[in-house]
Amino acid sequence: MSKPTPPVVSGALPGLGHALEFRSDRTALMRRGFEEHGNTFAIKLANQNVAILIGPENHRTFFMETDKALGIQEPYRFLRAMFGEVLFLAPHDVYLDQRTVVLEAFRREKMLHYADVMQEVIQVWLDRLGDSGEIELVSEITHLVQEVAGNCFLGREVHQQLGREFWDLYIDLAKGLDPLLPPNLPLPKFVRRDRAKARLQSILEPVIVERRRHPERYDDFLQDLVNKRYPDGRLAEQDLIVNLLLGLMFAGHETTAGQAAWTIILLLQNPDYLRLVQQEVQQVAPYGVHIDPRRTMQLDHISWAVREVERMRPSVDMLMRTVEQDVEVGDYLIPQGWLAQVAQDVAHNLPALFDDPETFDPLRYAPGRTEDKQDRFALIGFGGGTHKCTGMNFANMEMTLITALLFQQFDLELVTAHPQVQRGLGASRPGRTLLRYRRKPQSELLAQSALQPAETGAAPSATTFSRN
Ligand code: HEM
Repeated sequence: MSKPTPPVVSGALPGLGHALEFRSDRTALMRRGFEEHGNTFAIKLANQNVAILIGPENHRTFFMETDKALGIQEPYRFLRAMFGEVLFLAPHDVYLDQRTVVLEAFRREKMLHYADVMQEVIQVWLDRLGDSGEIELVSEITHLVQEVAGNCFLGREVHQQLGREFWDLYIDLAKGLDPLLPPNLPLPKFVRRDRAKARLQSILEPVIVERRRHPERYDDFLQDLVNKRYPDGRLAEQDLIVNLLLGLMFAGHETTAGQAAWTIILLLQNPDYLRLVQQEVQQVAPYGVHIDPRRTMQLDHISWAVREVERMRPSVDMLMRTVEQDVEVGDYLIPQGWLAQVAQDVAHNLPALFDDPETFDPLRYAPGRTEDKQDRFALIGFGGGTHKCTGMNFANMEMTLITALLFQQFDLELVTAHPQVQRGLGASRPGRTLLRYRRKPQSELLAQSALQPAETGAAPSATTFSRN
């Protein structure tokens, strides 16, 4: 006898199912489902059945069945209007081919280079803040993360040359994100999206032409894309290069900005732990010292805080797949035609895995506790399996450096004491958050660096922080 389908959560409305609640408060819906039925349950989005899979065992099935019984392309189809057929939006063989190029962007030597670029860009931002003032943290960090991505992936010269126009266009492109409406409706946001895409293409194409003419002059991620050839020897089309660049920026910038901002917020809300971070920064990365990746890896307390943010405030709070063949999950069968979903907001708060899960407690990852190591599918803020985030190390390094340099040089205070999670069509992030800052006195900074005189380097040099 075949297994039953997962039980449906209470509260479905005739015709609509849980669609309205899913839109207004999907976390509450997921939590209720978990309380009513445990790790496997179903919701209805109008006529569409969706199986919700919680916990490491279920996550394992979700990620290991992706590209087999579960499809990744359809749920992200709405992104095609923005980026065409790139990465997991492309047929599987094309995806595998493109993936090798993207992985190339994150190999060790490139990461060393990105670490330098990140530090320079972050330092330019810190210098621009002046001695004291107030900022809206989320927009500042979003802008900073854009600068980092632009300088790392487009290369400093190109990013400087394109200036702010690139990001203004990019924002118009990203605002066209809509998983629900048909992407070709004549709505103003879709018209702006298409115009922005055409303009981005027209400003990047001459750059690609120049790089094809003089490949020997460049050695960066853009050049790797420009040099890309298909197995039959053909060079990659200009469209594909532009789409890959834009797709990477999209995957990486709001997500990183959200979790970077939460790291700063949660540290400020937890002064005892913040003191440990500050001590660590003074010892490992005092003012003026170049923070190379070896030092970054010694910033344990910051990296545990960054991981705790992945757990408590994941920028990506759910992932979807289409069920292309029946799949068994524990005692249930999920039939073809359903959707399958994982829900980080619930899965990262399971008391069986995480002690006192509602508490910010980065020491849960310290030696002796290592709660995240119980199962490789316990924490899934960066996904899992083949499609696990390619930019994870990049994002973690960036969040670590932003946190280290900011707390190294500034005393900070939250003006918005309790920022709320804001969920939209894209990444989850903190709502508007005002932050008051005061630069530490020069004497204190110099005293920090005097702790390690032999290793103190020159002040970081200026880079291309195009802001107006
Ligand atoms: C905190 C920051 C980030 C978070 C939370 C995040 C999260 C994720 C998640 C959950 C997935 C899996 C999607 C799925 O299985 O459906 C993913 C995939 C991906 N991410 Fe990230 N990401 C972040 C930063 C970045 C950055 C900085 C980049 C690149 C610059 C990036 C590039 C990618 C790419 C290319 C994929 C697709 C991988 C594949 O299908 O092979 N991400 N990310």
